[in-house]
Amino acid sequence: MAVPSTITFKFSILLIILFSFEARETIAISLTEKVTITNNVTDPTPKTITFNCKSKDDDLGVHTLMFGEIYRFSFRPKILYPIVHPTVFSCSFTWLGNPHRHYFDIYDQSRDRCFHCNWKINLNGGCLNGDKCRPWKSVQLMDA
Ligand SMILES: *[C@@H]1O[C@H](CO)[C@@H](O)[C@H](O)[C@H]1NC(C)=O
Repeated sequence: MAVPSTITFKFSILLIILFSFEARETIAISLTEKVTITNNVTDPTPKTITFNCKSKDDDLGVHTLMFGEIYRFSFRPKILYPIVHPTVFSCSFTWLGNPHRHYFDIYDQSRDRCFHCNWKINLNGGCLNGDKCRPWKSVQLMDA
């Protein structure tokens, strides 16, 4: 009698441990947002773009992408006060032969509902996951 119940008890503990790992894994995956930026800028020939993306807390640094190349980043958006202080990553894009700095919000927690936000950056702005296109948020002439 005592033996089976001990085994059952140990087995229950094992199941609880396994389930809690499972739960933690699921939460970690669902909280990570993945963003990709693909260079599709033709102006009027394919261009290499230089860009910098920042949120209030993170500066992702300056990167360059040749035409067709992809840059990836992932992050954990805020869970506590997303409505008051949504996570926003704003990027500025430049390329040789164009005197403007092009601004674009590559991720806005209050706007975007995507765990995999794949943006194509075009001459006129960006297209999300192959369909939703947005113009540049603003365009500024750079100093000479
Ligand atoms: C890529 O750029 C070309 C030329 O501007 C445009 O016709 C095409 O729609 C763009 N592709 C996407 C997926 O935005």
